[in-house]
Amino acid sequence: MTDAARTDATTGDGPDTDAAARIRDRIDTSRPHPSRVYDALLGGRNHYPVDRAVTLKSLERNPRGYLDVRHNRDFIRRAVLHLTREHGLRQFLDIGTGLPTPPNVHEIARSAAPASRVVYVDHDPVVLAHARALLHGGPEGSTAYLDADLRDPHAILYGARATLDLERPVALGLAAILHFVEAPAAYDIVATLLDALPSGSAVFLTHLTADLNPERLLPGLKATGLNFTLRSREEFLRFFTDNGLEPVEPGVVPVHRWHPDGTWDATVLEPEDVAGQDALEVAARRGIGDVRDEDINIYGAVALKP
Ligand SMILES: C[S@@+](CC[C@H](N)C(=O)[O-])C[C@H]1O[C@@H](n2cnc3c(N)ncnc32)[C@H](O)[C@@H]1O
Repeated sequence: MTDAARTDATTGDGPDTDAAARIRDRIDTSRPHPSRVYDALLGGRNHYPVDRAVTLKSLERNPRGYLDVRHNRDFIRRAVLHLTREHGLRQFLDIGTGLPTPPNVHEIARSAAPASRVVYVDHDPVVLAHARALLHGGPEGSTAYLDADLRDPHAILYGARATLDLERPVALGLAAILHFVEAPAAYDIVATLLDALPSGSAVFLTHLTADLNPERLLPGLKATGLNFTLRSREEFLRFFTDNGLEPVEPGVVPVHRWHPDGTWDATVLEPEDVAGQDALEVAARRGIGDVRDEDINIYGAVALKP
Protein backbone atom coordinates (compact mmCIF):
# COMPACT_ATOMS: atom_id res chain seq x y z
CA MET A 1 0.00 0.00 0.00
CA THR A 2 1.42 3.38 -0.96
CA ASP A 3 0.95 6.65 0.88
CA ALA A 4 -1.32 7.71 -1.94
CA ALA A 5 -3.81 4.93 -1.30
CA ARG A 6 -4.45 4.41 2.37
CA THR A 7 -7.29 2.53 3.95
CA ASP A 8 -5.86 2.77 7.46
CA ALA A 9 -8.47 4.98 9.11
CA THR A 10 -11.43 3.10 7.80
CA THR A 11 -10.79 -0.58 7.94
CA GLY A 12 -9.18 -1.15 11.35
CA ASP A 13 -11.07 -2.97 14.08
CA GLY A 14 -10.70 -0.45 16.84
CA PRO A 15 -10.42 3.32 16.94
CA ASP A 16 -7.20 4.52 15.37
CA THR A 17 -6.61 7.82 17.07
CA ASP A 18 -3.40 8.60 15.13
CA ALA A 19 -5.19 8.10 11.85
CA ALA A 20 -8.16 10.17 13.05
CA ALA A 21 -5.80 12.97 14.05
CA ARG A 22 -4.08 12.82 10.67
CA ILE A 23 -7.43 13.14 8.95
CA ARG A 24 -8.41 16.08 11.15
CA ASP A 25 -5.13 17.85 10.35
CA ARG A 26 -5.94 17.70 6.65
CA ILE A 27 -9.40 19.25 6.96
CA ASP A 28 -9.46 22.87 5.84
CA THR A 29 -12.61 24.67 6.93
CA SER A 30 -11.42 28.08 5.73
CA ARG A 31 -12.38 27.66 2.07
CA PRO A 32 -15.02 25.73 0.14
CA HIS A 33 -14.27 22.18 -1.04
CA PRO A 34 -16.00 20.36 -3.91
CA SER A 35 -17.34 17.44 -1.85
CA ARG A 36 -18.82 19.77 0.77
CA VAL A 37 -20.35 22.27 -1.65
CA TYR A 38 -21.89 19.31 -3.49
CA ASP A 39 -23.19 17.95 -0.19
CA ALA A 40 -24.77 21.31 0.63
CA LEU A 41 -26.47 21.45 -2.76
CA LEU A 42 -27.76 17.90 -2.30
CA GLY A 43 -29.31 18.79 1.02
CA GLY A 44 -26.72 16.92 3.10
CA ARG A 45 -25.42 17.86 6.54
CA ASN A 46 -21.70 17.18 6.19
CA HIS A 47 -20.43 20.60 5.17
CA TYR A 48 -19.07 23.70 6.90
CA PRO A 49 -20.35 27.30 7.06
CA VAL A 50 -17.91 28.40 4.34
CA ASP A 51 -19.33 25.76 1.97
CA ARG A 52 -22.91 26.64 2.80
CA ALA A 53 -22.30 30.35 2.26
CA VAL A 54 -20.97 29.95 -1.30
CA THR A 55 -23.62 27.36 -2.14
CA LEU A 56 -26.38 29.74 -1.06
CA LYS A 57 -24.78 32.40 -3.28
CA SER A 58 -24.67 29.92 -6.13
CA LEU A 59 -28.39 29.13 -5.71
CA GLU A 60 -29.20 32.84 -5.73
CA ARG A 61 -27.67 33.01 -9.21
CA ASN A 62 -29.03 29.67 -10.42
CA PRO A 63 -32.09 28.91 -8.27
CA ARG A 64 -32.76 25.52 -9.88
CA GLY A 65 -29.08 24.49 -9.79
CA TYR A 66 -29.86 21.85 -7.16
CA LEU A 67 -31.54 19.85 -9.93
CA ASP A 68 -28.17 19.33 -11.64
CA VAL A 69 -26.72 17.54 -8.62
CA ARG A 70 -29.88 15.70 -7.60
CA HIS A 71 -30.29 14.36 -11.13
CA ASN A 72 -26.60 13.50 -11.28
CA ARG A 73 -27.14 11.30 -8.20
CA ASP A 74 -30.21 9.75 -9.73
CA PHE A 75 -28.28 8.96 -12.92
CA ILE A 76 -25.78 7.05 -10.73
CA ARG A 77 -28.65 5.05 -9.22
CA ARG A 78 -30.06 4.11 -12.63
CA ALA A 79 -26.63 3.38 -14.13
CA VAL A 80 -25.59 1.10 -11.26
CA LEU A 81 -28.93 -0.74 -11.35
CA HIS A 82 -28.68 -1.10 -15.12
CA LEU A 83 -25.15 -2.52 -14.93
CA THR A 84 -26.06 -4.84 -12.08
CA ARG A 85 -29.33 -6.14 -13.52
CA GLU A 86 -28.76 -6.05 -17.28
CA HIS A 87 -25.04 -6.75 -17.53
CA GLY A 88 -24.28 -8.78 -14.41
CA LEU A 89 -21.68 -6.41 -12.96
CA ARG A 90 -20.82 -7.33 -9.37
CA GLN A 91 -17.73 -5.18 -8.74
CA PHE A 92 -17.70 -1.38 -8.61
CA LEU A 93 -14.79 1.06 -8.43
CA ASP A 94 -16.34 4.43 -7.63
CA ILE A 95 -13.77 7.24 -7.84
CA GLY A 96 -14.70 10.66 -6.45
CA THR A 97 -17.26 9.14 -4.12
CA GLY A 98 -18.23 12.31 -2.32
CA LEU A 99 -19.86 12.49 1.09
CA PRO A 100 -22.30 9.69 1.91
CA THR A 101 -25.63 10.33 0.18
CA PRO A 102 -28.22 7.57 0.28
CA PRO A 103 -28.64 5.54 -1.72
CA ASN A 104 -24.87 5.04 -1.98
CA VAL A 105 -23.37 2.88 -4.72
CA HIS A 106 -22.95 -0.20 -2.49
CA GLU A 107 -26.57 0.09 -1.34
CA ILE A 108 -27.83 0.41 -4.91
CA ALA A 109 -25.73 -2.48 -6.22
CA ARG A 110 -26.62 -4.74 -3.28
CA SER A 111 -30.32 -4.00 -3.65
CA ALA A 112 -30.07 -5.87 -6.97
CA ALA A 113 -27.11 -8.18 -6.28
CA PRO A 114 -26.34 -8.64 -2.57
CA ALA A 115 -22.83 -10.05 -3.16
CA SER A 116 -21.62 -6.91 -4.96
CA ARG A 117 -18.23 -5.56 -3.93
CA VAL A 118 -17.47 -1.84 -3.94
CA VAL A 119 -14.32 0.23 -3.59
CA TYR A 120 -14.80 3.93 -2.97
CA VAL A 121 -12.02 6.41 -3.69
CA ASP A 122 -11.73 10.07 -2.76
CA HIS A 123 -8.92 12.43 -1.76
CA ASP A 124 -10.98 14.63 0.53
CA PRO A 125 -10.29 14.12 4.26
CA VAL A 126 -13.90 14.94 5.18
CA VAL A 127 -15.11 12.17 2.88
CA LEU A 128 -12.56 9.87 4.53
CA ALA A 129 -13.80 10.85 7.98
CA HIS A 130 -17.32 9.80 7.01
CA ALA A 131 -16.21 6.63 5.26
CA ARG A 132 -16.83 4.39 8.27
CA ALA A 133 -20.54 4.98 7.86
CA LEU A 134 -20.31 3.91 4.22
CA LEU A 135 -18.58 0.68 5.10
CA HIS A 136 -21.30 -0.64 7.34
CA GLY A 137 -24.12 -2.83 6.21
CA GLY A 138 -22.49 -5.44 4.00
CA PRO A 139 -20.50 -8.64 4.27
CA GLU A 140 -17.07 -8.02 5.76
CA GLY A 141 -14.43 -7.13 3.19
CA SER A 142 -16.93 -6.34 0.47
CA THR A 143 -16.72 -2.55 0.72
CA ALA A 144 -13.53 -0.55 1.10
CA TYR A 145 -12.53 3.05 1.01
CA LEU A 146 -9.28 4.29 -0.52
CA ASP A 147 -7.83 7.62 0.45
CA ALA A 148 -6.29 8.29 -2.95
CA ASP A 149 -6.03 10.79 -5.77
CA LEU A 150 -7.48 10.24 -9.23
CA ARG A 151 -4.26 11.72 -10.58
CA ASP A 152 -2.46 8.57 -9.41
CA PRO A 153 -4.51 5.83 -11.12
CA HIS A 154 -1.83 3.19 -10.52
CA ALA A 155 -2.11 3.70 -6.75
CA ILE A 156 -5.90 3.36 -7.06
CA LEU A 157 -5.63 0.11 -9.02
CA TYR A 158 -3.10 -1.23 -6.54
CA GLY A 159 -5.30 -0.36 -3.56
CA ALA A 160 -8.48 -1.67 -5.21
CA ARG A 161 -6.97 -5.16 -5.64
CA ALA A 162 -7.38 -5.83 -1.91
CA THR A 163 -11.17 -5.89 -2.42
CA LEU A 164 -11.82 -6.36 -6.14
CA ASP A 165 -10.69 -9.11 -8.49
CA LEU A 166 -9.36 -7.10 -11.42
CA GLU A 167 -9.27 -10.23 -13.59
CA ARG A 168 -13.08 -10.14 -13.55
CA PRO A 169 -15.39 -7.37 -14.85
CA VAL A 170 -15.48 -4.14 -12.89
CA ALA A 171 -17.77 -1.14 -13.32
CA LEU A 172 -15.67 2.00 -13.12
CA GLY A 173 -17.60 5.04 -11.88
CA LEU A 174 -16.32 8.57 -12.45
CA ALA A 175 -19.32 10.73 -11.68
CA ALA A 176 -18.88 14.49 -11.49
CA ILE A 177 -15.13 14.25 -10.93
CA LEU A 178 -13.43 14.50 -14.34
CA HIS A 179 -14.36 18.19 -14.55
CA PHE A 180 -11.78 18.74 -11.80
CA VAL A 181 -8.99 17.42 -14.03
CA GLU A 182 -7.60 19.23 -17.06
CA ALA A 183 -6.55 17.68 -20.38
CA PRO A 184 -4.50 15.77 -21.29
CA ALA A 185 -4.24 14.29 -17.78
CA ALA A 186 -7.97 13.50 -17.60
CA TYR A 187 -7.85 11.42 -20.79
CA ASP A 188 -4.64 9.63 -19.77
CA ILE A 189 -6.10 8.72 -16.37
CA VAL A 190 -9.27 7.22 -17.84
CA ALA A 191 -7.21 5.29 -20.38
CA THR A 192 -4.96 3.87 -17.63
CA LEU A 193 -7.93 2.78 -15.53
CA LEU A 194 -9.85 1.22 -18.41
CA ASP A 195 -6.77 -0.51 -19.74
CA ALA A 196 -6.40 -2.34 -16.41
CA LEU A 197 -9.94 -3.76 -16.55
CA PRO A 198 -10.93 -6.91 -18.45
CA SER A 199 -13.47 -7.37 -21.22
CA GLY A 200 -17.03 -7.21 -19.86
CA SER A 201 -16.13 -4.27 -17.61
CA ALA A 202 -18.13 -1.07 -17.76
CA VAL A 203 -17.78 2.63 -17.14
CA PHE A 204 -20.34 5.21 -16.07
CA LEU A 205 -19.37 8.85 -16.37
CA THR A 206 -20.99 12.21 -15.71
CA HIS A 207 -19.51 15.62 -16.49
CA LEU A 208 -20.45 19.29 -16.28
CA THR A 209 -20.83 21.01 -19.64
CA ALA A 210 -21.43 24.54 -20.87
CA ASP A 211 -23.18 23.13 -23.97
CA LEU A 212 -26.68 23.10 -22.55
CA ASN A 213 -27.75 26.08 -20.42
CA PRO A 214 -24.59 28.12 -19.76
CA GLU A 215 -26.51 31.28 -18.92
CA ARG A 216 -27.85 29.47 -15.83
CA LEU A 217 -24.86 27.29 -15.05
CA LEU A 218 -21.90 29.65 -15.26
CA PRO A 219 -23.00 32.34 -12.77
CA GLY A 220 -23.85 29.59 -10.27
CA LEU A 221 -20.50 27.85 -10.67
CA LYS A 222 -18.59 31.12 -10.42
CA ALA A 223 -20.21 31.85 -7.05
CA THR A 224 -18.66 28.69 -5.58
CA GLY A 225 -15.10 29.92 -6.24
CA LEU A 226 -14.17 26.39 -7.35
CA ASN A 227 -12.33 25.65 -10.59
CA PHE A 228 -14.00 23.48 -13.20
CA THR A 229 -12.91 22.22 -16.61
CA LEU A 230 -16.18 22.14 -18.51
CA ARG A 231 -16.28 19.85 -21.55
CA SER A 232 -18.35 19.80 -24.70
CA ARG A 233 -20.25 16.73 -25.85
CA GLU A 234 -17.39 15.81 -28.21
CA GLU A 235 -14.79 16.23 -25.45
CA PHE A 236 -16.89 14.08 -23.12
CA LEU A 237 -17.42 11.41 -25.77
CA ARG A 238 -13.65 11.11 -26.18
CA PHE A 239 -13.41 9.46 -22.73
CA PHE A 240 -15.18 6.53 -24.40
CA THR A 241 -14.11 6.59 -28.04
CA ASP A 242 -10.39 7.11 -27.28
CA ASN A 243 -10.59 3.77 -25.48
CA GLY A 244 -12.55 1.91 -28.14
CA LEU A 245 -15.86 2.13 -26.25
CA GLU A 246 -19.28 3.02 -27.60
CA PRO A 247 -21.82 4.35 -25.07
CA VAL A 248 -24.93 2.17 -24.76
CA GLU A 249 -28.29 3.66 -25.76
CA PRO A 250 -29.19 6.51 -25.52
CA GLY A 251 -25.51 7.54 -25.76
CA VAL A 252 -24.29 10.84 -24.31
CA VAL A 253 -27.31 12.73 -22.97
CA PRO A 254 -28.15 15.19 -20.18
CA VAL A 255 -28.34 13.02 -17.07
CA HIS A 256 -32.12 13.26 -16.61
CA ARG A 257 -32.59 11.83 -20.12
CA TRP A 258 -30.65 8.61 -19.47
CA HIS A 259 -33.24 5.83 -19.00
CA PRO A 260 -35.63 7.72 -16.70
CA ASP A 261 -37.60 5.13 -14.74
CA GLY A 262 -40.57 7.16 -13.53
CA THR A 263 -39.55 7.17 -9.87
CA TRP A 264 -38.99 10.90 -9.38
CA ASP A 265 -41.20 12.56 -6.86
CA ALA A 266 -42.70 15.92 -7.73
CA THR A 267 -43.25 17.31 -4.25
CA VAL A 268 -44.64 20.81 -4.43
CA LEU A 269 -44.02 23.01 -1.42
CA GLU A 270 -46.42 25.75 -0.42
CA PRO A 271 -44.99 28.98 1.03
CA GLU A 272 -46.22 28.03 4.51
CA ASP A 273 -44.31 24.73 4.25
CA VAL A 274 -40.98 26.52 3.94
CA ALA A 275 -41.40 29.52 6.20
CA GLY A 276 -38.11 30.43 7.89
CA GLN A 277 -36.00 28.03 5.82
CA ASP A 278 -33.06 29.04 3.66
CA ALA A 279 -32.86 28.21 -0.05
CA LEU A 280 -30.80 25.06 0.56
CA GLU A 281 -33.24 23.69 3.12
CA VAL A 282 -36.09 24.37 0.73
CA ALA A 283 -34.26 22.77 -2.20
CA ALA A 284 -33.56 19.67 -0.10
CA ARG A 285 -37.28 19.18 0.49
CA ARG A 286 -38.32 19.62 -3.12
CA GLY A 287 -38.92 16.73 -5.47
CA ILE A 288 -36.95 16.43 -8.71
CA GLY A 289 -39.86 15.42 -10.91
CA ASP A 290 -40.45 18.94 -12.24
CA VAL A 291 -37.10 18.91 -14.08
CA ARG A 292 -36.93 20.57 -17.52
CA ASP A 293 -34.19 20.45 -20.14
CA GLU A 294 -33.19 24.03 -19.30
CA ASP A 295 -32.29 22.96 -15.73
CA ILE A 296 -29.62 20.39 -16.53
CA ASN A 297 -25.94 20.93 -17.35
CA ILE A 298 -24.44 17.50 -16.78
CA TYR A 299 -23.87 14.85 -19.41
CA GLY A 300 -24.03 11.19 -18.50
CA ALA A 301 -23.22 8.01 -20.39
CA VAL A 302 -22.50 4.33 -19.78
CA ALA A 303 -20.35 1.99 -21.86
CA LEU A 304 -19.23 -1.63 -21.81
CA LYS A 305 -15.72 -2.78 -22.59
CA PRO A 306 -15.79 -5.26 -25.50
C1 LIG B 1 -18.99 16.65 -7.08
S1 LIG B 1 -18.43 15.36 -6.04
C2 LIG B 1 -19.20 13.94 -6.85
C3 LIG B 1 -19.59 12.86 -5.87
C4 LIG B 1 -20.23 11.62 -6.53
N1 LIG B 1 -19.31 10.98 -7.45
C5 LIG B 1 -21.49 11.98 -7.28
O1 LIG B 1 -21.42 12.19 -8.51
O2 LIG B 1 -22.54 12.10 -6.65
C6 LIG B 1 -16.74 15.17 -6.60
C7 LIG B 1 -15.90 14.34 -5.67
O3 LIG B 1 -14.65 14.09 -6.32
C8 LIG B 1 -13.61 14.22 -5.37
N2 LIG B 1 -12.38 14.57 -6.09
C9 LIG B 1 -12.12 15.69 -6.82
N3 LIG B 1 -10.87 15.61 -7.35
C10 LIG B 1 -10.36 14.42 -6.94
C11 LIG B 1 -9.12 13.77 -7.16
N4 LIG B 1 -8.16 14.34 -7.90
N5 LIG B 1 -8.91 12.56 -6.60
C12 LIG B 1 -9.88 11.97 -5.83
N6 LIG B 1 -11.07 12.55 -5.59
C13 LIG B 1 -11.31 13.76 -6.13
C14 LIG B 1 -14.06 15.35 -4.45
O4 LIG B 1 -13.41 15.29 -3.20
C15 LIG B 1 -15.54 15.05 -4.36
O5 LIG B 1 -15.84 14.22 -3.27
